[in-house]
Amino acid sequence: LHAIARPKDLAGLHIAVTAGPTQEPLDPVRYLTNHSTGKMGYAVARAAAMRGADVTLIHGPTALPPVKFVEDVPITTAQDMYDAVTSRFDGMDVLVMAAAVADYRPATVADDKIKKKDGDLSIPVERTADILGTIGPKKTKQFLCGFSMETRDMLENSSAKLTKKNLDMVVANNLKVAGAGFGVDTNVVTFITPDGSRELPLMSKSDVADAILDEILKRRK
Ligand code: CTP
Ligand code: CA
Repeated sequence: LHAIARPKDLAGLHIAVTAGPTQEPLDPVRYLTNHSTGKMGYAVARAAAMRGADVTLIHGPTALPPVKFVEDVPITTAQDMYDAVTSRFDGMDVLVMAAAVADYRPATVADDKIKKKDGDLSIPVERTADILGTIGPKKTKQFLCGFSMETRDMLENSSAKLTKKNLDMVVANNLKVAGAGFGVDTNVVTFITPDGSRELPLMSKSDVADAILDEILKRRK
């Protein structure tokens, strides 16, 4: 009923959403990852589909049920996500990068399980490709919305990402604010755009998703 009641104001738009963590393997049994559960990105994908968009959801490993009426693209590593996003980029009108992409991966992946030895172990890591950092400067018609999770200097750090990656909007949140961040069903976000910033009140992730899509629709016009 909720779905039927929504205006189909995103009909005709192809919206790609990334969500969840990436997993960067170290050996056949271990990986590097982060606390992302995918809830915020899945909420955006679900809301966009209900509002009539043609949605592709590119996501790392999550425990969430698949979103109905969206193209589902499961991936594992940051490189997989880079490939999935860049290969679809030409066909996108909007990209919402809610995924928590690993910034570093183990420099080598052992073929066999690493056995423990006496003493400590150091793991050399190397940078992954920055997906938005790569496609931002090359965008044509695409509206690019990044996310930014910070524990301090949220506005300054997130504004720098807007400029550096040539984004149209950044949805920033401070991990240290109650009701925001990993795993929970609510969020407290600030929209950062080239003309300023606007903090939204504590809202459900589903309402935040609709507010993000409202803002994108307004700014694309
Ligand atoms: N992002 C990306 N590719 C990466 C890392 C991040 O496209 N390899 C995207 C994220 O999905 C997010 C935005 O860039 O939309 C900002 O991510 P964030 O981790 O907050 O910023 P970074 O630029 O990675 O900087 P740092 O982690 O040092 O704050
Ligand atoms: Ca990062």
